[in-house]
Amino acid sequence: MEQDRSSQSRPPHVLVFPLPLQGHINSMIKLAELLAIAGFKLTFLNSHHNHERLVKFNNIAAHSERYPGFQFKTITDGLPLNHPRSGSWFLDMFEDTMELKMKESLREVLVNSSPPVDCIIGDGFLGFALDVAKELGIPIIFFRTSSPCCFWVYHSIPDIIQAGELPINGSEDMDRLITTVPGMETYLRCRDLPTFCRKLDIEDSSMKLVVKQTRKSLQADALILNTAEELDGPILSQIRTKCPRVYAVGPLHAQLNTRLNAKHGESYDHFSNTLWEVDKSCIFWLNKQPNRSVIYVSFGSITSTSREQLVELWYGLLNSKTKFLLVVRPNSVIGKDGEGEDVVMELMEKSKDRGYIVNWAPQEAVLNHPAIGGFFTHNGWNSTLESIVAGVPMICWPQFADQHVNSRVVSEVWKIGLDMKDVCDSKIVEKMVNDVMVDRKEEFAKSASEMAKEDKEEIKMV
Ligand code: UDX
Repeated sequence: MEQDRSSQSRPPHVLVFPLPLQGHINSMIKLAELLAIAGFKLTFLNSHHNHERLVKFNNIAAHSERYPGFQFKTITDGLPLNHPRSGSWFLDMFEDTMELKMKESLREVLVNSSPPVDCIIGDGFLGFALDVAKELGIPIIFFRTSSPCCFWVYHSIPDIIQAGELPINGSEDMDRLITTVPGMETYLRCRDLPTFCRKLDIEDSSMKLVVKQTRKSLQADALILNTAEELDGPILSQIRTKCPRVYAVGPLHAQLNTRLNAKHGESYDHFSNTLWEVDKSCIFWLNKQPNRSVIYVSFGSITSTSREQLVELWYGLLNSKTKFLLVVRPNSVIGKDGEGEDVVMELMEKSKDRGYIVNWAPQEAVLNHPAIGGFFTHNGWNSTLESIVAGVPMICWPQFADQHVNSRVVSEVWKIGLDMKDVCDSKIVEKMVNDVMVDRKEEFAKSASEMAKEDKEEIKMV
């Protein structure tokens, strides 16, 4: 059933549909804002669960006031409202429970949309959106929120397997180079592949799902990536050999900030899109610290740590010569009943002179604060881009998804940080923090600020 969207005088109507996760909502809402500034009518399709939280912690109504034609619509994510949506829930629930219900709901929204939707920008992980778009005759662009490098590795997995470089044999050297990902032959090692590649089983369901969604992304009318040519030019050229219409439109948060500041001035109040309550008290604490003296430590919106890992990290931070601002998200420490929360309270009490701990920080503001000299990160793609744009060097502790590839690129290609992959030892934490914040401070600060400068030049030119 094709709707009538013949030439009209109204602005084109774009529906933006993210995966229901914080890291995906963040960049896709910024893309939606940029399109609204350019005059498009915008529908942002959120899950009921995430929308409730967006409304609770942000001034969401202001989007429609600021951008006439911007509206939120909500659909189910396929899970009961009281599902905890924490830990490894997403890949476990996606194919069997979520996909079917989200597909039905998307179809319903599109069929009933007035004015009709002229183009869908779907999260590239939601491959079913392509089937619905084709059925209804609506053009679709896929947007991948993860890094281009990782997109390219995901795409290459069948070739790596065919070349016999996967599976990784349990006892072998994890530093072995993977030579079958074009453009990455000189630096990609076994340990830099996504973690599901560590399984002996090449039929692993998570691996198959990710490869399937990635290859499907290339069947859309175009593919958008949150990066800049300056950052990822060589890998973008590789991806373009498979799909000619690939657009690098990022870093989106910087693109949006540049446009809003140019129009309204530097002090303009930017929207936040957070699913947790932001603790702004850390900014007051940072205001009292000397320039580039604090390391910011945060591992994004999904990662969990064990009690032991958190304590190991904390000792490393405490023994280093640097003050720290640490984010410990509610329920992100895995332990027996209440044990995780207890350990956070204990660390908070013991760190008073050396650090500050919050549940959720205003991350962009923190990274741009003059007191911050380094970022201890899990290398989620948003965090990596936010650090690059702020000119802050990184210590990388990747956990899953695109993060293992990202940390390799940060340390080995861009040389703006150190990679602590596969280790969680207080002595190593201490050494890396001292390297980035004290002993090799100028070297890292210089490379990070040069990269930020190049990036800003490109943003000005777009
Ligand atoms: C996930 C994946 O892990 C990531 O690899 C993928 O690229 C996107 O989806 P997440 O793990 O949450 O995202 O990491 P990241 O991409 O870094 O996104 C986290 C976002 O939350 C960032 O935009 C960051 O600014 C924000 N954040 C994080 C806060 O605002 N406050 C915090 O305290 C922590």
